[in-house]
Amino acid sequence: SPPDEKEQNPNMEDSPQADLRSARWFAAHDLTGFVHRTAIQAEGFSSFAIKDRPVIGIANSWSELVNCNIHFKLLADAVKRGVLMAGGLPLEFPTISLGESLMKPSAMQFRNLMAMDVEESIRSYPIDAVVLLGGCDKTVPAQLMGAASADIPAIMLTGGPQEPAVFRGKQLGVGTDTWKYADELRAGRMTQADFDELEASAKPTAGHCSEMGTASTMTSITEALGMCLPSTAAIPAVHARRAQAAEETGRRAVEMALTGGPLPSEILTPDAFDNAITLLMAVGGSTNAVIHLLALARRVGYDLDLDRFHQISERTPRIVNVRPSGEYLVQQLFNAGGIGAVLKELSPLLKGEAITVTGETLAAGFANSPQPDGDVISKLETPFDASGGIAVVRGSLAPKGAVIKRSAASPDLLTHRGPAVVFDDIFDLGKRVDDPNLDITEDSVLVLRNCGPVGAPGMPEWGMLPIPEKLLKRGIRDVVRISDARMSGTAFGTTILHISPEAAAGGPLAVVQDGDMIVLDVSTQRLDLDIPSDELERRLADLTLPDRKYTRGYGRLYLDHVTQADEGCDFDFLQAVPGEEPQRMPY
Ligand code: FES
Ligand code: MG
Repeated sequence: SPPDEKEQNPNMEDSPQADLRSARWFAAHDLTGFVHRTAIQAEGFSSFAIKDRPVIGIANSWSELVNCNIHFKLLADAVKRGVLMAGGLPLEFPTISLGESLMKPSAMQFRNLMAMDVEESIRSYPIDAVVLLGGCDKTVPAQLMGAASADIPAIMLTGGPQEPAVFRGKQLGVGTDTWKYADELRAGRMTQADFDELEASAKPTAGHCSEMGTASTMTSITEALGMCLPSTAAIPAVHARRAQAAEETGRRAVEMALTGGPLPSEILTPDAFDNAITLLMAVGGSTNAVIHLLALARRVGYDLDLDRFHQISERTPRIVNVRPSGEYLVQQLFNAGGIGAVLKELSPLLKGEAITVTGETLAAGFANSPQPDGDVISKLETPFDASGGIAVVRGSLAPKGAVIKRSAASPDLLTHRGPAVVFDDIFDLGKRVDDPNLDITEDSVLVLRNCGPVGAPGMPEWGMLPIPEKLLKRGIRDVVRISDARMSGTAFGTTILHISPEAAAGGPLAVVQDGDMIVLDVSTQRLDLDIPSDELERRLADLTLPDRKYTRGYGRLYLDHVTQADEGCDFDFLQAVPGEEPQRMPY
């Protein structure tokens, strides 16, 4: 537990604030206390505003470079209102923000940078509890990871999904439909003018992507982990209910500061991760969540295993009918009772006693949620899919595992044997994939390598390789595709992702040759390269690794320390040592 402030500083005034972490800065009757207090009064706060109050930090990932989080100034205002009404002092601060649409080469390359920014901002400033404002894909896991390592009371407020886009009277999913229309354009079945109109209508409001892509998956998981208020994850970005949730979150943050918890390390238990993985499967969520949960678990010293995802997937039916696995958008899920209703129906499969930011159990949080409507949310007994959407495969081609989004795949390709067509990197793919002379049939297995955490670097969402034009023209819409990349949460197809170790780390993916037979059997969890094992060993011994893409700066730090996908692509030095107390400020 944190050191006793009064013991540390005999000049500390005897006041309720003396028990708070911020008292280290503000409560002492000495020159240091004077300097700290003047820093706040210089912002126009009176001495009344900083006396005997918990300081609530608001970590805001607002940025004009991140359209999904563009409403966060308004949300922060509502959080502040809640904090003030509960008697706290709200202090908002910026961190780096990660926008999925504009950041290159991939927002994923900077998730750990943002996590470090969040962690150190919390740790180094006079903050008693923190409200995390995140929305776009990588902002949520980065904030959860940073807050978990800082380990002071933390509560997340997610940004909510944007309003559904409508094109020619038809509701659009942001990712899924865009990919489909792009294929239509390439195949000559849609005009450029129509496509331009689609472009202008694609993102009608602030908020994160409105289907069960990575953002909605991560915000939903945040609720299952117990890191946000109950039934708040699915509230649309522009609804009054979201601002109400923001106000309530600010109010609750003050209580958490005054009672000292619960701490992230008390909420993020193995049970909480089981609950999160169960929800991930039930909603047909994004494969990216696998990586983020593996990383987050390691922030609290829990060595979560990839196989746990497969086990929970096997026993968890998909009960949510939202794209890309189902028909609807998150807004309809909200109308049907949101994540609270999903968790309630899942309760026989959950560890309902897990503690949440409310200080109460997860089960208490969803107790008043409605019953499934049978359309957007099904009953457990009549699910949309009998098992979860994500499977884990291993074998000679993926010794440390790989994942496949079974719910987005073609069922007839889940057991497949076919010859490899190999692309060495994304440029090779771009050059040759639509070549009419490409030696390929519908039985071929498209292989893309050097797109992993080190190889790309940053493990971009390149795993949904385009179907070669030669096959598209014959009406073929899916073939088996394998890579060490990730895939957008809104993408679809029979794609094996996150192959670990990746090619650039010397994994067997690096030595696959055109024509080698690849054998996939999701039912037995196998992915193998069908060549003699001595041949595989000979090829691996001859392998030269590609040049590293960065020699300085953050890129170098990243390449030196990023872990493979099966450990969550965190930096090795940011993982907690299992069993060790979280590291606190040393003075
Ligand atoms: Fe930000 Fe999809 S681009 S959530
Ligand atoms: Mg995405």
